[in-house]
Amino acid sequence: MQKILEIKDLKKYYPILGGVLQRKVADVKALDGIDLDIFRGECLGLVGESGCGKTTTGKAIIRLHRPTQGHIHYYAPKNATDPSADIGTLSKSAIKKLGIRGKLQMVFQDPTTSLNPRMLIKNIIAEPLKAQNSLNGRALTDRVRELLEIVGLTRDHYLRYPHEFSGGQRQRIAVARAIATNPEFIVLDEPTSALDVSVQAQILNLLIRLQQNLGLTYLFVTHHLLVVKYISHRLAVMYLGKIVEIARTTDLFARPLHPYTIALLSGIPAPDVEHKPGRIVLSGDVPSPVNPPAGCRFHSRCPFVIDRCLTEEPVLESIEPGHRAACHRRHDMDKLVSDRFGLKRPGKPS
Ligand SMILES: Nc1ncnc2c1ncn2[C@@H]1O[C@H](COP(=O)(O)OP(=O)(O)OP(=O)(O)O)[C@@H](O)[C@H]1O
Ligand code: SF4
Ligand SMILES: [Mg+2]
Repeated sequence: MQKILEIKDLKKYYPILGGVLQRKVADVKALDGIDLDIFRGECLGLVGESGCGKTTTGKAIIRLHRPTQGHIHYYAPKNATDPSADIGTLSKSAIKKLGIRGKLQMVFQDPTTSLNPRMLIKNIIAEPLKAQNSLNGRALTDRVRELLEIVGLTRDHYLRYPHEFSGGQRQRIAVARAIATNPEFIVLDEPTSALDVSVQAQILNLLIRLQQNLGLTYLFVTHHLLVVKYISHRLAVMYLGKIVEIARTTDLFARPLHPYTIALLSGIPAPDVEHKPGRIVLSGDVPSPVNPPAGCRFHSRCPFVIDRCLTEEPVLESIEPGHRAACHRRHDMDKLVSDRFGLKRPGKPS
């Protein structure tokens, strides 16, 4: 598979200002060293507790926010070997000049706030096209009407305001705006969470259809594990500004190897009671990203913590092809889970 993005040691710190002079007193370490490859045509899911840095990851990758440190290598189509640009370090104007801006887009959770209530739909969808100076006049009108039809709306929706639509329709408009510039990569940040359950499936199916028809690559951020199981090919799990496990979605659901992932997945109802541990409730709160714990960031809540975890930070290492986890005890996890929770696991795939 060809890479589209190669993310290396990505950090995003938000300064906390204090005192009379409003000087920087500390940093919120929202992303604290992320390494991630994203492949063309895949849907990569990103899950983790609230505040772990999922949205920040998406915003940093498409350069809505400038990373504090790190590299985001973008590979143009048919160029699998040399990255065309480092989005992490280039200025916004340089990114625009190289024509990469329109290739990376984002759809936000709540279409009520992400669409300007004072703008007509035709202008909302035309905005990114105008910013690119790619179309105008009749060609622009035709393109906007075409986009409305692609996302399942009709041409007569063209002259309406966002409040005249249902939540599901508004999210379709947000999707139309995101695909207007023929992007290659879209961050979908909880695109169905604000919607009624009855329309969630419609939007998911629209996203799947668009991915297939337009050859899109997705980073799909969600809290909803069953949604991500349905839509994503691979899944990355985040905890406190770091990726702690990544694998093909089927492998990760069958045999999670990081204790945080095991706890996260234990909350999903499963028909297979033999392989179901019952819910593992983690003790304690998520530590502050201003002062993350030394060693393994998960050690204050981990049921399998040992002395080494308090001082030595585990790195994301391969366990099986395509399956990586950041845990000192990853190789013993089947036994640890079985002894502690009486959970019979499917075992290492042959
Ligand atoms: N603009 C900002 N300024 C300061 N801190 C921020 C900013 N944006 C996010 N943060 C902080 O960075 C951390 C990560 O936030 P982020 O929004 O990425 O989390 P998230 O995983 O998307 O959470 P949720 O699931 O609730 O959407 C949080 O501690 C948050 O308070
Ligand atoms: S490194 Fe230690 S504390 Fe961290 S997840 Fe593994 S066992 Fe738990
Ligand atoms: Mg978020």
